[in-house]
Amino acid sequence: MTEAKLEALLQESRAFPPTAEFAAQANAQPSIYTEAAADPLAWWHKQAERLTWHTEPTSTLEWDLPNAKWFGDGMINASVNCVDRHVAAGRGDKVAYHWVSDIEGESRTITYAQLLDMVCKAANAFTQLGVKQGDRVAVYLPMIPETVVTMLALARLGAIHSVVFAGFSADALSSRILDSDCRFVVTADGAMRRGTPSPLKPAVDEALQSCPNVQSVVVVKRTGGDVNWVEGRDNWWDDLMAPQSTEHTPEYFPSEQTLLIMYTSGTTAKPKGIFHTTGGYLTHCITTYHYIFDLKVDTDVLWTAADIGWITGHSYIVYGPLAAGATQVMYEGLPDSGGRDRWWKIIAQYGVSKLYTAPTTIRTLMKWGDDLPAGHDLSSLKLLGTVGEPINPEAWMWYRKNVGHDNCPIVDTWWQTETGGIMATPLPGITATKPGAAMTPFPGISLDVVDNEGQSVGNGEGGYLVATAPWPGMTRGIYGDPERFFATYWARFPGMYFAGDGAKRDDDGDLWLLGRIDDVMNISGHRLSTTEVEHALVGHPMVAEAAVVGASDDTTGQAIVAFVTLKLSAEEASKDQAPLIEELRQHVSHTISPIAKPRQIILTPDLPKTRSGKIMRRLLRDVAEHRTLGDVTTLTDPTVVNMIAGLLETEGAED
Ligand code: WTA
Repeated sequence: MTEAKLEALLQESRAFPPTAEFAAQANAQPSIYTEAAADPLAWWHKQAERLTWHTEPTSTLEWDLPNAKWFGDGMINASVNCVDRHVAAGRGDKVAYHWVSDIEGESRTITYAQLLDMVCKAANAFTQLGVKQGDRVAVYLPMIPETVVTMLALARLGAIHSVVFAGFSADALSSRILDSDCRFVVTADGAMRRGTPSPLKPAVDEALQSCPNVQSVVVVKRTGGDVNWVEGRDNWWDDLMAPQSTEHTPEYFPSEQTLLIMYTSGTTAKPKGIFHTTGGYLTHCITTYHYIFDLKVDTDVLWTAADIGWITGHSYIVYGPLAAGATQVMYEGLPDSGGRDRWWKIIAQYGVSKLYTAPTTIRTLMKWGDDLPAGHDLSSLKLLGTVGEPINPEAWMWYRKNVGHDNCPIVDTWWQTETGGIMATPLPGITATKPGAAMTPFPGISLDVVDNEGQSVGNGEGGYLVATAPWPGMTRGIYGDPERFFATYWARFPGMYFAGDGAKRDDDGDLWLLGRIDDVMNISGHRLSTTEVEHALVGHPMVAEAAVVGASDDTTGQAIVAFVTLKLSAEEASKDQAPLIEELRQHVSHTISPIAKPRQIILTPDLPKTRSGKIMRRLLRDVAEHRTLGDVTTLTDPTVVNMIAGLLETEGAED
């Protein structure tokens, strides 16, 4: 068979083998899989040597399901691993971040030595404010270097950061502050959005009205707008930092010291405070970063285009890359801040070699046209990554062709806030890639696809994705709620971690992710629960009942469709409801975040329910996606569904 014929066949089956050139210089060798599988614990222990330990661990794993301790007797400081050790090794002049502003032409370059000075000053300043080991600190900041400095300074003190995405509302912020009893908040006056300031401090002021335990607020000046000021509580970042020394002697903490809390949506209205500890999490981040991004630390410029307010930013903008000593681009703006070709300009200007982003963004960039990436020199790119939601083959192929010029492997990485780091992905240079497949578990990770009874499914079959063995980056729990932790992840299949995702193995045994199988929606790669949005809707005085579903959407993956019944008099009911619908959308946006704003709200006199009174979301999803309705015999009133389907036809989608 000629090479061309083989290539054609592979194209047909849409599998892309690693190129010989890539395979020859790749970090990982095929033997890594067998080596890790032969003794996963020994393999992870070896990976932990990538870190600088104050006291080297002798133990690897203590496992008492669902409680894990990794490298339990080791002593470590996360901040030392991310900055000090690189400076000590003579790499202080290496750029840690090329920070690129929302505003074109504005940027900052921060070396590891400068980062160390900033982190030490911040650690001294936070100590002066009273922050101590174990304290929880809420971080509500945009994509600026101070966000990283804050996280590292807190980690340095053994304090726990809870970064709340700056797009969340005051209500969402206060509930997160209260849940983990944060005593300090670090924020900014505002964020820049397409050249316009978008205030943040007012949301903090509003949130803190219900958080009496917060004693100090630190405010970074980003936009320069007027801010309300609470004397004795509020402090300007610059004023606090100015007198501080750039020297700070770190303490060392047990490997299982809690490093961070990250709230994520579950199937109830109350977000879960997923927490991660230090040694295992860092080991997972640095190891996956090294192999999956085929890190060439001296020459690479890597760009994880995500927000630090989500786990992707924590693991692959902050901890993984910094622990590895990498040089990155950190971008503050939106994909179209300053024009729809902004991304391509950034890649060309900084010579970005590895790009990691979400399918939603890829689809958006794709919509904006092939001529935009074609107009810029993207030849520096060597590898592309995607994360956060299933990627449709069309977007994958577009990414490969128009961004990667058919020359960059694509790593489709499956993982979760709970897993801490990447769990399934191709390995560049080793595994073939297929458009839309996460392919295979990362070395040292045990995943399976199981049926309802927890039995492994065969090739060509689908089921639930589970992890069958503990891994270093795994969450150590839900903050303050061990029962919920067990019930959510460890009770469905005995001995296995239940991820909440559907998956299938194709005929070759490769892994494809099929989306959530619970009431969690994935909107533009952001996790939201249906109940959370329903809760916000019924909080509006006019709303009697609400049912929310995630319906497929060409750009955002899923979009929120809400079915709402109102408390209305006959007279009110006869009025034009368009203003009310808009009011409800704004209400959700204000209560949770603009990302939770329903694409569509359908007012309906009734909701379809089972005889036991449960709202039939599956049916509503079918309705919202215009699918033929399945079995409705268990409905109390089957006509309701057809009526809703009728309403949907007539109202059409908004926005
Ligand atoms: C989904 C983001 C398909 C999945 C790192 C998971 C994916 C949820 C992929 C976690 C992928 C993430 N392919 N689906 N490559 N990556 N997901 O906690 O449903 O924000 O459960 O973590 O995103 O979202 P989270």
